[in-house]
Amino acid sequence: MREVEHPGGSHPATLILGIGELTTNAPEDVGVDPVDDPTGVIRDAALLLDGGRVAWAGPESACADGVEAALGRAPDRVVGVEGRAVVPGFVDSHSHLVFAGDRSAEFEARMAGRPYAAGGIRTTVAATRAASDDELRAVLRRHVDQALAQGTTTLETKSGYGLSVPDEERAVRLAREVTDEVTFLGAHVVPPEFSDDPDGYVDLVVGDMLAACAPHARWVDVFCETGAFTPEQSRRVLEAGAAAGLGVRVHANQLGPGEGVRLAVDLGAAAVDHCTYLSDDDVAALAASWGGEAQGTVATLLPGVEFSTRQPYPDARRLLDAGAVVALASDCNPGSSYTSSMPLMVALAVRETGVTVAEAVWAATAGGARALRRDDVGHLAPGARADVVVLDAPSRTHLAYRPGVPLVHAVWKDGHPAR
Ligand code: NIG
Ligand code: FE
Repeated sequence: MREVEHPGGSHPATLILGIGELTTNAPEDVGVDPVDDPTGVIRDAALLLDGGRVAWAGPESACADGVEAALGRAPDRVVGVEGRAVVPGFVDSHSHLVFAGDRSAEFEARMAGRPYAAGGIRTTVAATRAASDDELRAVLRRHVDQALAQGTTTLETKSGYGLSVPDEERAVRLAREVTDEVTFLGAHVVPPEFSDDPDGYVDLVVGDMLAACAPHARWVDVFCETGAFTPEQSRRVLEAGAAAGLGVRVHANQLGPGEGVRLAVDLGAAAVDHCTYLSDDDVAALAASWGGEAQGTVATLLPGVEFSTRQPYPDARRLLDAGAVVALASDCNPGSSYTSSMPLMVALAVRETGVTVAEAVWAATAGGARALRRDDVGHLAPGARADVVVLDAPSRTHLAYRPGVPLVHAVWKDGHPAR
């Protein structure tokens, strides 16, 4: 990246020139027909950031007039990116970063043939309960930084490895130190001390635990799956969370078919995550959820899980062809998917779930924003948050074409250079 001028300033207006391929995800705002290209690509583009927001996006040939109209003065800083591709910052709508301990032995055993089971979560619960606040903070910070280095500028993260009132309260409180998108997942699994009384644990979750956690959280979540919570228990948790003012999201249909997806749609959840085993009715319900005025339920696919558990990959093509909205997220956690790499999710989705590069990049950016019901991120039209990723590549296709290669050249978060 070549900096032409660098006068400094706390929030300088920055003009990025020489963008070979700019993915805006906002076709109407940049004069692209959304039927031809829902990702609103502009070639040989320029992008103006001002005050933490995108001020203008368009062809570089039109940039003098665009900057004059949007800013009315010269930008403070001009940066040339020499033909590189630019995409919106990734929106990772699903991670579990408040944890301690290591489960590499479990991963190794899986690669040798042992299946993934929800019970492994309890190993991390024991390590997390034993950790100090500062140890958990250090783990959180390390993972948030690693995610940012790979282009993630918006990140959701969950509790769920505490499973007692003080440990869950601590988890959401610490998570809130690094992101606004905090999810209360007290109903991750039933902790060992409630093995004989799972409904008693649900009473605790919807009672004192929710009361302690709701002030720090935006979302409530539940793992609705055999070995975790039944559909009835899940409904109780989600309805209580919604009554406490939290938005609803669900883990479901990861390990086998079940009622979780339909429960999520029924309750107007923002997202239902995993969606590995779907019936035709599940797919139809997800698609139909986008038919009315209200926002529907996003099917969030987490292909890092299938990579790391040797399960079959979900079928994104089937969902998209039916009219569902699909997001991609990392599910970064020490058990089922220990990676925070959204570029890897794009590569896996393209290779294994039947989507095009354009669809995968949209799902990892705009799709994640839909899953978090955010309209300020996931796109790069005027007014959007200035979260920008410059790839060390001439096109976004390289995200899938060059898996495992560090392709993030530069990141702006909220208009500030972040990498
Ligand atoms: O989303 N499915 C439930 N929870 C996590 C896994 C957590 C773990 O194994 O520690 C997930 O895959
Ligand atoms: Fe998860």
